[in-house]
Amino acid sequence: MDPITASLELVGDPSDAIYARLFERFPETKERFDRDVSGSIRAEMLTMVFDCLMNPAGPYQTGLVRTERVNHDGFGTPAKVFDSLFWIVRDVCRERAGAAWTPETEAAWTSQIERLLAASK
Ligand code: HEM
Repeated sequence: MDPITASLELVGDPSDAIYARLFERFPETKERFDRDVSGSIRAEMLTMVFDCLMNPAGPYQTGLVRTERVNHDGFGTPAKVFDSLFWIVRDVCRERAGAAWTPETEAAWTSQIERLLAASK
């Protein structure tokens, strides 16, 4: 199992904590989810983020991220904020994993996010 998938098994469901961190860091993003009453948009977004991180950032994943970055910019989420969600996800997962988060885990996450962001620009 790759180190990212292995670490995700340690963190439970980090979704609420990830969105809480996003709204704390970028309060202006909160109202964008007002119409997401059921939480399905938030769930779909995180599913895509995790899928892109767990699978090697191949052409399919980088294409998705590139397309969504443009879509999101069109509806008011600048690229810088869009990209930051990946780092927020890493930080929240690190905190939840505690001591089980090793330097290898950290390196795997950081290099995968850097690779995905660079390849999708
Ligand atoms: C902080 C950054 C982000 C914010 C504030 C944000 C916000 C949103 C919002 C408000 C929607 C609903 C759009 C609508 O009104 O229909 C949405 C949808 C979606 N987001 Fe994000 N998003 C962010 C980052 C991402 C990232 C990094 C991904 C995946 C790589 C992603 C994937 C999606 C997908 C798949 C949908 C649903 C389909 C679509 O409308 O394209 N989002 N996002």
